[in-house]
Amino acid sequence: MKNRYVVVLAAGQGTRMKSKLYKVMHPVLGRPMVGHVVKAALDADVSEVITITGFGADTVKDYLGDRSQYVDQEEQLGTAHAVDQARDLLEDKEGTTLVLSGDTPLLQAETLKRLMDFHEEEGAKATILTALADDPHGYGRVIRTEEGLVSKIVEEKDATEAERKVQEINTGTYCFDNQELFKALKNVDNNNAQGEYYLPDVLEILKDNNEKVGAYQLQNMDETLGVNNRVALSEATNLMQKRINEQHMMNGVTFIDPANTYIEADVQIGQDTVIEPGAYLKGDTVIGEDVVIGLNTVIEDSKIADGVEITQSVIDQAIVGKGSDIGPHSHLRKDSHLGENVHIGNYVEVKNSNIGNHTKAGHHTYIGDATVGHDVNIGCGVVFANYDGKSKSKTIVGDHSFIGSNSNLVAPVALGENSFVAAGSTITDEVPENALGIARARQVNKENFVLRYFNEDDE
Ligand code: UD1
Ligand code: CA
Repeated sequence: MKNRYVVVLAAGQGTRMKSKLYKVMHPVLGRPMVGHVVKAALDADVSEVITITGFGADTVKDYLGDRSQYVDQEEQLGTAHAVDQARDLLEDKEGTTLVLSGDTPLLQAETLKRLMDFHEEEGAKATILTALADDPHGYGRVIRTEEGLVSKIVEEKDATEAERKVQEINTGTYCFDNQELFKALKNVDNNNAQGEYYLPDVLEILKDNNEKVGAYQLQNMDETLGVNNRVALSEATNLMQKRINEQHMMNGVTFIDPANTYIEADVQIGQDTVIEPGAYLKGDTVIGEDVVIGLNTVIEDSKIADGVEITQSVIDQAIVGKGSDIGPHSHLRKDSHLGENVHIGNYVEVKNSNIGNHTKAGHHTYIGDATVGHDVNIGCGVVFANYDGKSKSKTIVGDHSFIGSNSNLVAPVALGENSFVAAGSTITDEVPENALGIARARQVNKENFVLRYFNEDDE
């Protein structure tokens, strides 16, 4: 195997996306397109990745970090001009250079490896990855000689009527003998419909110099989709969705309706977990084994332990311990940390709080900025009043406490272990260990009041 380098083209603005966001930063299931491309390149075991940046260079560099080296292309004069920016870094090196487009997010490492192996085994100076498209519109067409050898690539805008009918397309992915590439780039001109320096012209230049130029054809288009507009972006999302979901199914996860379930690229899911329709799992989320993720649940950047059951709820930046159950219609917000076997029922919101094992909050409760012990019972409609309009304050609830329904705990406040709050209380002071806190007006009954009240009306 030769030394292998990768050049990723990511300098274009992506005018056809009609977006403030640079094209290659548009996410496909949570990961920017250029992230998918660079990951595939790294997984294919290459020794160097060089990304050509231009529009949005800082955003792209911030995102990719040290996974790549960078060269700026100040003016976007075409794909050949873009590759030429890497001349100082690569020109003298021996080996194979793989060129990838930052807008082909579905290419897989395996395919790239096979392409590079094929290229090196054939001893070609250039090998182009092609595919057969049902609808080749918008792609460069692969023009072959009568013997079936690649003769040149013609861009849609430069193609004759007959050339446009060709269904074999340039996927925008190529392998080159590195030194030959940089020699040939010197001879690329911009005499074409778009006035750009086209990278595919390198193939014709090499061929005219009697160098070996090959093609590696993929049977289906799915991996090679180039995303130039939002229609293609949604197609890419659907293809990626199918790929990710199938991988999880092969690993032992049940999907009731995979077409209606979205799992972002970095999410991990344990065996025997069941995912119901409409679930959307995002970001850096880890789901354990034997979890049930119910209908229309959204989980982002969260850790869900084994055996948890979630029904129609939203969970964001939270940690849920083993065997807990949540929902329907509950919301765990940033920095909520639930212990094991916690019960969060319906219409409960939790924010920035620790909740101990076996604690229950069954109905209509807000828990914010709190530390709640284990085996606590939080009644219906309890509000942790954590905000006075200026600052947030903490509430502490000891183990084995019982908070009666419709109580307010006005922070900062503490309830000792095994304490008891009477229903309807507004607690503003500490309730000591083992004490009953009762903070409400005493009930007064006026005997026969109702009878008197209505009789007066009759008179
Ligand atoms: C390109 C190919 C076309 C192929 C298609 C596959 C050329 C001339 N055409 O067309 O044959 O079928 O990809 O998807 O190469 N870029 C730069 N600097 C530039 C120009 C482009 O970095 O000066 C980057 C873009 O950001 C993009 C990639 O190169 O990531 C491809 O450019 P794009 O304009 O999308 O090329 P296509 O028209 O799709
Ligand atoms: Ca493109």
